[in-house]
Amino acid sequence: MQEFTDRVAVVTGGASGIGLGMSRAFADAGMKLVIADLDEGAMSAVADELKAKGTEVVTRKTDVAELSEIEALAELTTETFGQVNVLCNNAGIGIPTGTHNMKLEDWKWIIDVDLWGPIYGVKVFLPLIEEAGEGHINATSSMAGLIAGQMMGAYNVAKHGVVALMATLERDLRGRKSPITASVLCPGPINTNISRHSVEFRPGQAKPKTDGETSGKVAKGIQAILENGMDPDEVGRMVLEAISSDEFWILTHPHWAKAIQKMLDAMNDNRSLTKA
Ligand SMILES: NC(=O)c1ccc[n+]([C@@H]2O[C@H](COP(=O)([O-])OP(=O)(O)OC[C@H]3O[C@@H](n4cnc5c(N)ncnc54)[C@H](O)[C@@H]3O)[C@@H](O)[C@H]2O)c1
Repeated sequence: MQEFTDRVAVVTGGASGIGLGMSRAFADAGMKLVIADLDEGAMSAVADELKAKGTEVVTRKTDVAELSEIEALAELTTETFGQVNVLCNNAGIGIPTGTHNMKLEDWKWIIDVDLWGPIYGVKVFLPLIEEAGEGHINATSSMAGLIAGQMMGAYNVAKHGVVALMATLERDLRGRKSPITASVLCPGPINTNISRHSVEFRPGQAKPKTDGETSGKVAKGIQAILENGMDPDEVGRMVLEAISSDEFWILTHPHWAKAIQKMLDAMNDNRSLTKA
């Protein structure tokens, strides 16, 4: 996709972190924006910020885990702007818990938001973007979508699913000679509010600890890594650049891909599972 001025982008989880970075980058490129998020206060602050720069923005409180809410989001988008060109399935959450302790409610919540959210997004928005005749669908996976580290079972399953969803979508689009393209964002550590939001939004409870001492330590360790992570605005600019250059893989920390190469080598050599 080459032209961005007056094109319409929908960003889920667009009020914070990486989604906010995308919203800012798209606005700077002259696009109109639809921001969907659970956090209404953060959304209205972002809308004010972008409107002050002259961007046309609408927001909608949306839970991406609900098909009816994604359908309502699509309706708002076409009613407001008459078309949609870019969808970023970005909203996501995750908590560290060992597989032996992970509650079924948490498996369901994480997979509903992190995998069903993007599936609903593709299902509802793909026909609309194809109708517009030019556009792009991106989804935010993770390095956890390429290599399964410990204590993040549900997140790993969902994020591997997102990579598979987007790779299949891109192949199917090319097979149909569609003008629409797809990409997947696999970030390494980015300095965002994901740890706080994942605790706040966890259904039924708001406890930072998930399975006692070990996951509490892991959560703190993850938080410390994220605080030293990349600026999410930089990630937003990378996504815009990747869309304009038709890149499928968007890796914020490409050197981390060495871990994947090691895994493939071990798969071939001695069939052991490498550390991650
Ligand atoms: N921060 C990182 O290091 C990192 C690394 C890899 C992947 N990711 C992925 O990046 C994406 C964005 O996360 P972030 O790090 O910017 O976190 P963030 O919490 O700063 O932003 C995520 C936004 O999504 C919203 N959200 C959460 N659940 C939602 C739901 N059910 N429906 C709609 N909105 C919802 C939140 O309110 C928030 O505004 C996620 O998919 C996450 O898994 C983040």
